[in-house]
Amino acid sequence: MTDFDTVIERRGTGAVKWDVTAPDVIPLWVADMDFAAPAAVTDALARRVAHPIYGYPMVSDSYRHAFCEWQQRRNRLAIDPAWLLATPAVMPAVRAAIDAVSEPGDAVVVQTPVYFPFFHAIRSKGRRLVLNPLRESGVVPAHPGGHAHHHGFAMDFNHLEELFRDGARVLLLCSPHNPVARLWSRDELTALAGLARQWGVTVISDEIHSDIILEPRPFVSMLDVLPELTVACFSVSKTFNLAGIGASQTVVPDPGLRSRVRRVCERDGLLSLQHVLSLTATEAAYRHGDAWLDALLDYLRGNHAVLRTAVANRMPGVRAGAQEATYIAWLDLRDYCAERALSESQLKRLLQHQARVKLSDGVQFGHGGLGFQRLNFATPRLILEEALGRIADALHRGYISTV
Ligand SMILES: Cc1ncc(COP(=O)(O)O)c(C=O)c1O
Repeated sequence: MTDFDTVIERRGTGAVKWDVTAPDVIPLWVADMDFAAPAAVTDALARRVAHPIYGYPMVSDSYRHAFCEWQQRRNRLAIDPAWLLATPAVMPAVRAAIDAVSEPGDAVVVQTPVYFPFFHAIRSKGRRLVLNPLRESGVVPAHPGGHAHHHGFAMDFNHLEELFRDGARVLLLCSPHNPVARLWSRDELTALAGLARQWGVTVISDEIHSDIILEPRPFVSMLDVLPELTVACFSVSKTFNLAGIGASQTVVPDPGLRSRVRRVCERDGLLSLQHVLSLTATEAAYRHGDAWLDALLDYLRGNHAVLRTAVANRMPGVRAGAQEATYIAWLDLRDYCAERALSESQLKRLLQHQARVKLSDGVQFGHGGLGFQRLNFATPRLILEEALGRIADALHRGYISTV
């Protein structure tokens, strides 16, 4: 069993999170984890590497079934293996899906603040980026077993319907949501599906975080509520810390929609970009990764409790929102900054140069991100506690101008 407390040196391994961060700065930015992948995956990789021929691989039936059985077991989600396209990563699949379901000039909706590579994906395809900002709802709906939260985010359905009425034909959904950590409820997704169906809108649903659920309630896929208009994207990269492996699973139940997505993927060479080790790692993870993931989720819940306590007790003016899913927290420092008239760049310098901790700036995530910082808490508790201590101390001292 993996011991998530073990600190594994990542510097010098070409890890972007660690190797472009100054040596005395703790990196809590890029969304990968500082934990060893499941032994079932490293064992399968070692076995495959030991076979000295790495010729063209195929996407086997066994690979397809491993993914579908995982979704059935974990999410009670019935996926026909024929609906699956094996793609090299989520973002190339998202770009292919945008091509397949829209024309240049079409409006594609995103719900900000959101994973910012979405913006480039839409613009790089010559589509119009249209924003449906999340609403701050003040309180998060109470879920059984959930914690009391300071603030939460909700979808603005009225505004979304206006955008659909104005002609937007695609929604690029992030579910669960990065960075606000919402696990969208079945009610919310059903409402969304109703609007999409009414206006004939295709939903590209990025469900890469769907296995990192910290709430007791289950993840609901768009495939469950809007199968005929959904392109859903999954991956082992977040779930099993395999982002460098390069694999994703694109699921399209509707045959017509699927053949459009498949054509673009073929045109762009995505389907022949299968890496022999990525297929091995993915299948092993989905077949044998349950116990590892359950242990990981417990550890992440523990880490979030540490984070929540540190924020509540040691960081006046800072709020940690509801952490329903994902291992990245969306910290609200607006009150802290307002009380001290601190600018975004001063806040950034305070954190990076005084606290010596690297987080992700909220502004990158678009509308609504100003005054927020994203913190990746998927790291051994010792590192997390050190980082939180540094942040609390630096916030307490306040910004020290160096000019
Ligand atoms: C919502 C979301 N989509 C996609 C990705 C990246 O996926 P990939 O590396 O498979 O393109 C991330 C990584 O943080 C993410 O948070």
